[in-house]
Amino acid sequence: MKSHRMLMPGLLLALLALPFASQAGDGDWKRGRIYYRMVCTACHVQKSGSIAPSKMTKAEWAAYIKADKHAKGKDSLKHYVSTAYRNGIKASNKAAEKFADVPDQELLDDIRAFVEYGAKDGEKPASCS
Ligand code: HEC
Repeated sequence: MKSHRMLMPGLLLALLALPFASQAGDGDWKRGRIYYRMVCTACHVQKSGSIAPSKMTKAEWAAYIKADKHAKGKDSLKHYVSTAYRNGIKASNKAAEKFADVPDQELLDDIRAFVEYGAKDGEKPASCS
């Protein structure tokens, strides 16, 4: 009985994660968190007010990332994850410098892993800081 209760939530989570896992790599949410806080949030705080991962559900984040429309469609989210963007800001941004050589898709997967982990219905809803 006890082991059942422990197993079920894990099993459910694994099942829920399947569609995402098959779409792209799993992503390292800890690395994603560093980038999100030091690059994404750093800019949001200045320009628009902070945007917490917990503002959206996992499904909303997945759709948002897939659509690749950032700042109300003005530009692309992938742009801010790209090697080119990181190279451009790495002189003044430690996270961009640290992850300068991470492939774009890998870093995007990390960010996706973090925002889903910290989503409204995620494992650990996260504020922006
Ligand atoms: C150069 C500054 C800048 C960077 C870097 C940046 N953002 Fe933004 N972001 C903005 C601005 C400005 C808005 C708000 C637009 C508005 O409200 O009119 C925004 C809005 C958003 C929104 C709200 C929905 C939308 O698109 O309007 C999300 C979610 C978001 N950003 C995610 C991210 C993520 C994830 C990253 C990092 C990979 C990131 N942003 C990097 C400036 C930035």
